[in-house]
Amino acid sequence: MISNKEVLKLSKLIKDDNFVDYKNSELKVGVDLGTANIVLVVVDEKNRVIAGAMKSAKVVRDGIVVDYIGAINIVKDLKRKLEDKLEKELIYASCAIPPGIDPRSTKAIANVVESCDFIVTNIVDEPTAAAETLKIKDGAIVDLGGGTTGISLLKNGEVIGTWDEPTGGHHMNLTIAGYYNIDLSKAEELKINSNNKDIFTIIKPVLEKMASIVKNYLDGKEVDAIYLVGGASNFDGIEDLFEKITGIKTFRSKEALLVTPLGIAKSCLGGKNGQ
Ligand SMILES: Nc1ncnc2c1ncn2[C@@H]1O[C@H](COP(=O)(O)OP(=O)(O)OP(=O)(O)O)[C@@H](O)[C@H]1O
Ligand SMILES: [Mg+2]
Repeated sequence: MISNKEVLKLSKLIKDDNFVDYKNSELKVGVDLGTANIVLVVVDEKNRVIAGAMKSAKVVRDGIVVDYIGAINIVKDLKRKLEDKLEKELIYASCAIPPGIDPRSTKAIANVVESCDFIVTNIVDEPTAAAETLKIKDGAIVDLGGGTTGISLLKNGEVIGTWDEPTGGHHMNLTIAGYYNIDLSKAEELKINSNNKDIFTIIKPVLEKMASIVKNYLDGKEVDAIYLVGGASNFDGIEDLFEKITGIKTFRSKEALLVTPLGIAKSCLGGKNGQ
């Protein structure tokens, strides 16, 4: 299990509704418009974690904005909350897209962030942002989000391939809802709050599908290790399942949901470089 200090710090700051003194440093924001969650992370110019805020939302589906106004309202609200807490206006932001989406969808994501009075200095792809947080130079980052399985393959610090397929936590909820004959929100609640072991058996086919997606893309390539991030990787035993199917050593990260959002903030270029 990977315990990244900055990610753990960010998680605690969000839970405690707290922030770190930024001593007049320029601040940079990462905006992650996910299928399940919208997350804003603030770092200083040395990429130290300062604060974060998040809200569950259904305004983006697999990198496509399906509720433009809703997305803007949530990002504006989270931005205002952070600005009030930090007593500072937040200006520069970076946002992210799942790999391989249509350029028009990329524009829609940047438009949402710009409509919230941010200057967008960078747009990165999600698994590459996660690699930035974990400082991984070789291997495959696999982002298991609410809607998709995103893969980014790195060699000597360079991204040599990125892929994205629609299988995520939402698909686990469909399986749980079908099994217990309950609605999707109940299934989500059960998945997150109940004993992982009971749920694991029910969602195992979804995890196997995710691992097969990863195997297909990585087949024939030299891959040192797989690093799982994203909210839907929060299952004990997921590493073994991925290892069995892909034949590649697999690790997962603590507070996996925050790894990509922190990387997005770190990739923001800020005012000095971004303009
Ligand atoms: N403790 C947990 N156990 C199992 N699943 C979890 C847990 N916490 C969050 N999830 C799941 O993780 C998913 C959200 O993860 P994340 O925030 O990384 O996705 P996203 O970025 O919104 O989606 P995407 O990247 O696909 O657009 C949801 O499906 C949620 O149910
Ligand atoms: Mg995501």
